[in-house]
Amino acid sequence: MKKANIAVLVSGGGTNLQALLDAQAAGHIPSGQIVLVLSSSPKAYALERAKKAGVPGFAVEKEEFGRNLNAFLEEYHIDLVVLAGFLSILSADFTCKWAGRIVNIHPSLIPSFCGAGMYGLKVHEAALQKGVKVTGATVHLVNEIPDGGEILLQKAVAVLPGDTPEILQKRVMEQAEWVLLPQAVEQLAEKITKETDK
Ligand code: GRF
Repeated sequence: MKKANIAVLVSGGGTNLQALLDAQAAGHIPSGQIVLVLSSSPKAYALERAKKAGVPGFAVEKEEFGRNLNAFLEEYHIDLVVLAGFLSILSADFTCKWAGRIVNIHPSLIPSFCGAGMYGLKVHEAALQKGVKVTGATVHLVNEIPDGGEILLQKAVAVLPGDTPEILQKRVMEQAEWVLLPQAVEQLAEKITKETDK
């Protein structure tokens, strides 16, 4: 069966990209293959991770971002787009064109602590501020509403006494994000390849 060609969009450290690369190397994403990494920043360490894994990685120029992004995705015959710590805003045209084939990992249990401006440490600061005892991560399909698409997978993580935003972020990454994203990507890649094999 043909594998789905996967592009991972990144902006920063790339720990979620690394979880995907490690899962692929361990044979946990049999229905897909990570063939491209695109970064909104040339300084993203995620590009180093792609290089070490032998995956083509590029920083997409800010100007004409959308046009450049589409050109890369066409050139690499991408079937599935994964947002992994990606912080740029995608146009409604783009998310509409990729509807059902673009996923995002968000570091909370949506609908809590999500939406415009809620990303990175800010999510965990808000959770601690609210005093929730349980948080976690969500993988969802991407639409034109920030964190608004269909929820695919979620995993709960305990908030512990004395947690700082940094400590909580690390626990959510380790116990939820890095577990959920490879699972969701394999599930969606399998669905896409079955559809194209019909
Ligand atoms: C982290 O805040 C993570 O929770 C969220 O994006 C940020 C960077 O992730 N998904 P990464 O290390 O670049 O994958």
